[in-house]
Amino acid sequence: MILVTGATGTVGRPLVSALRDRGVPVRALVRNPRNLPAEWDAGVEPVTADLSDPASLAPALAGVDAVYLLTPVHPDAEQQQRHVIDAAVQAARPRVVLHAAVGLGRPDVTPVRFFAAHAAGLDQLNATGLDWTALAPNGFWQNYRGMAESLRAGTLALPAGDAAVSYVDARDVAETAAAVLTGDGNDKAVLEVTGPEALTHDQIAARIGAALGHDVTYRALTPDQAREGMLAAGMPAWQVDGLVELHGMYAAGEAATVADTVPRLLGRPARSLEDFLRDHAAAFRAAPGDDRR
Ligand SMILES: NC(=O)c1ccc[n+]([C@@H]2O[C@H](COP(=O)([O-])OP(=O)(O)OC[C@H]3O[C@@H](n4cnc5c(N)ncnc54)[C@H](OP(=O)(O)O)[C@@H]3O)[C@@H](O)[C@H]2O)c1
Repeated sequence: MILVTGATGTVGRPLVSALRDRGVPVRALVRNPRNLPAEWDAGVEPVTADLSDPASLAPALAGVDAVYLLTPVHPDAEQQQRHVIDAAVQAARPRVVLHAAVGLGRPDVTPVRFFAAHAAGLDQLNATGLDWTALAPNGFWQNYRGMAESLRAGTLALPAGDAAVSYVDARDVAETAAAVLTGDGNDKAVLEVTGPEALTHDQIAARIGAALGHDVTYRALTPDQAREGMLAAGMPAWQVDGLVELHGMYAAGEAATVADTVPRLLGRPARSLEDFLRDHAAAFRAAPGDDRR
């Protein structure tokens, strides 16, 4: 039995499906059992728990052989992750596949608060002696769905400088995770998960424009311009500062490595930006204000 946390999210949802499709018993940790994804069937066992409530985690971990440990981008993520690892130690000491992010284990990379929990989780896993593997994906193309309205208006505005980024499709992260969870090897390995190429944001804007059928121009914001805009839009300060740090890391060229993990483990190329845009065409062509499709 494999437990997936963050099971209703961008990576967790396709991961649950990928495990079910492989015929593996999968338990999906959810906060609200009334909101189960429509595609889950008898092959998926939902369990209700909250990562912030340690007492709720023991039933979720019972009888589990492996855990995909994904915590949300949240100020309490480190504590939530600690609760799961503690529960794993109290249970049958399952293998833990830690969902982390680009930069894990690389001291040369600019610290990003969103990812601080992952490094702490790795330290805790090493201290417990549990078997572990970590996935370190780059930024997801799926983040661009939240910028659909601005892209439709012809602008990609980010504080990301001129360096290239090897963004990855979150579906490839999920399928790679399924391969790691169901396969042997990769013990104590940090696997970088990236797309097939690194693109500058000028190149990204041009390719999105080609897919949308009109010009899209990249505008490199300064960190202060970006911060001001996000705060004015009502975003919490912690999240604003994290996004500025993240794009600073991109601008420093620290997220440009192209890894072979997806082709190596899945036997096919990683999805391209064009693949992502084709499969999410409805979201990018939707009426303004309806970016979630
Ligand atoms: N976005 C990126 O570009 C990127 C790149 C690399 C790494 N990452 C890492 O990926 C992770 C986020 O993955 P994601 O984008 O798939 O997440 P997501 O789409 O934001 O989904 C978050 C998931 O966590 C669940 N959740 C939130 N709070 C919870 C709680 N207290 N107890 C139980 N479940 C809770 C949510 O459940 P509900 O349905 O109940 O809300 C949802 O299933 C973070 O660790 C981030 O650092 C992100």
